[in-house]
Amino acid sequence: MLTLENLNVFYGAIHALHDVSLTVNVGEVVTLIGANGAGKSTTLRAITGLLTPRSGRIVFEGQDIAGLPAHTLVARGISMAPEGRGIFANLTVVENLEMGAYLVKDYAQVKRDMERGFTLFPRLEERMKQRAGTLSGGEQQMLAIARALMSHPKLLLLDEPSLGLAPLVCHTIFTTIDEIKAAGTTVLLVEQNANAALKHSDRGYVLETGEVSFQGTAAAIAGDPRVREAYLGE
Ligand SMILES: Nc1ncnc2c1ncn2[C@@H]1O[C@H](COP(=O)(O)OP(=O)(O)O)[C@@H](O)[C@H]1O
Ligand SMILES: [Mg+2]
Repeated sequence: MLTLENLNVFYGAIHALHDVSLTVNVGEVVTLIGANGAGKSTTLRAITGLLTPRSGRIVFEGQDIAGLPAHTLVARGISMAPEGRGIFANLTVVENLEMGAYLVKDYAQVKRDMERGFTLFPRLEERMKQRAGTLSGGEQQMLAIARALMSHPKLLLLDEPSLGLAPLVCHTIFTTIDEIKAAGTTVLLVEQNANAALKHSDRGYVLETGEVSFQGTAAAIAGDPRVREAYLGE
């Protein structure tokens, strides 16, 4: 579904990604693990068109999408729940979900999609008329994921969805990723909570200062002594 080939991304003079190559197959959950500053968010920003790579290819469903504008990529089927969630604090839960559905013309369809979001996250339905800024951190993350799903993505990108959340809420988020996968959506997940992420992934990549240092099945990554020491707290 998605292949990055020798991707190089810069912020001015800062070379943030060095020849990053990775693949996400249809139906998989793939995790990108790495320390703070490793380049995880930069990778997702390049895929979603928020950053244009200096060189390399981003091939989605057979076409090079590098440098295409973000709204075009949403229409092609790529959607992201960004780091820090990016919800509209002054809008209600329902209004935030409507924003995620701006490409869907038929409001009956929007309502059905909202119902699906509420089935995944019943807490959002209880708070549907509440302003998003008044939700708990976990509820805001649920809203960010539900909003990203409103555009019917084929590929859902999640940037640190469990960051700062209590263990029970993290569990809810990871269980929902299983459900999203079961419903047929492919997921590229960025996480510092590597232990939990690998339990819910098929494969993964380790990023170190902008380079892929290790890749393999989730089991191979979780079983590698260097990865265990550096990222799994062992
Ligand atoms: N807007 C920016 N301007 C300049 N440098 C940035 C910017 N965003 C990220 N960086 C740098 O790029 C590198 C990768 O950052 P990032 O992708 O955010 O890492 P991660 O998501 O893995 O924590 C870091 O060195 C970071 O300081
Ligand atoms: Mg990040």
